[in-house]
Amino acid sequence: EKFILAYSGGLDTSVILAWLKENYNCEVIAVCIDVGQGDDYDAVTQKAFNTGASKVYIEDVKEDFVKNYIFPTLKAGAVYEGKYLLGTSFARPVIAKRLVEIAEKEGATTIAHGCTGKGNDQVRFELTIKALNPSLKVIAPWRIWDIRSREDAIDYAKERNIPIPVTKEKPYSMDKNIWHLSHEGGDLENPWNEHKTDMYQMTTPPEECPDAATYVDIYFEKGNPVAIDGTKYEPVELLEKLNDIGGKNGVGIIDMVENRLVGMKSRGVYETPGGTLLYTAHKELEYLTLDRQTMHYKELIAQKYSELVYDGMWFTPLREALDAFVDSTQTFVTGTVRLKLYKGSAKVAGSQSPYSLYSEEFATFGKDEVYSHKDSEGFINLFGLPLKIRALMMKKNEEE
Ligand code: ARG
Ligand code: SIN
Repeated sequence: EKFILAYSGGLDTSVILAWLKENYNCEVIAVCIDVGQGDDYDAVTQKAFNTGASKVYIEDVKEDFVKNYIFPTLKAGAVYEGKYLLGTSFARPVIAKRLVEIAEKEGATTIAHGCTGKGNDQVRFELTIKALNPSLKVIAPWRIWDIRSREDAIDYAKERNIPIPVTKEKPYSMDKNIWHLSHEGGDLENPWNEHKTDMYQMTTPPEECPDAATYVDIYFEKGNPVAIDGTKYEPVELLEKLNDIGGKNGVGIIDMVENRLVGMKSRGVYETPGGTLLYTAHKELEYLTLDRQTMHYKELIAQKYSELVYDGMWFTPLREALDAFVDSTQTFVTGTVRLKLYKGSAKVAGSQSPYSLYSEEFATFGKDEVYSHKDSEGFINLFGLPLKIRALMMKKNEEE
């Protein structure tokens, strides 16, 4: 029997690889999906073989991730609980989709993953697998075995001569990809503890950022970012560039207490430098190019969209339908937004679009020829009619 293991080369998935072989009559194919975590994949491959994998896949899905998961979520304006830019959430369906494809190609029966039984990630992986191939079985060792801690895992590995990563113990549970880096656990578990800026890996602490502001122009076509400072880039490169610019200026740190799907609240610190620039700029372009009704309705969609992504409901008819709506709204979201970055903040410094609905001619407080002030009187009379009728009724009742 063939098993597919979502493998990273870290302690947990190394132990899982050995544990699967010990407890099931199976061969284990280790699959490491590159979503931009920037690991040394040759070392990962070697480690997987040394731990007993029969075959190793390293799969670069960055382009698919950025184009088909990140950009649609950006266009939807989805932000979970008003803060979280969903960096881990939408990486799970893109990873699980590739795992399913490889399982099918290899004729594997089972996919194993290293998520714990307390988190969101297990849900996201498994909903994706169910949606794409319901006949595949799933094994989540953290929900089965007796290993309870990092120490247990190290003991397990030592007893069996499993090569364990020599990296020193990480104080946080982290998840990195091309969009973000998350930190959870450790001293963050008490929300009264201020987070330490020395945990940052993508971001310079604001106090240490340049004293002069940095300007960056982002150009969008139909809601998709395509150029920076007048130069076109492919999606992956564009995001990497913005991570660099945003990170150097301390932009995109989110520290929050969030509601997990599985019931409890958890506290996390997220670094999303490039993503924060993209969200800020994209929103600004919508202020310029969307009509009032569409913009307000889209805000309702964004809320729902963020829940779908957070909850792992990526491969659903509703998400696809919402994407169709969002794409329709993006027809004229084309133009440039200039951001001013300074010690942790990203402020809008200008916006322009050939499809701008902003009209100086109509908006001006100066003398204008296009708008008749007289029209407003009748408009207010009719718009206010229900208020007037109710007030008259109240008055009449008071008098009786
Ligand atoms: N709380 C965030 C989320 O649910 C981040 C999860 C991080 N996952 C991890 N395996 N470290 O999306
Ligand atoms: C995990 O428990 O595997 C990570 C945290 C999460 O999924 O929310």
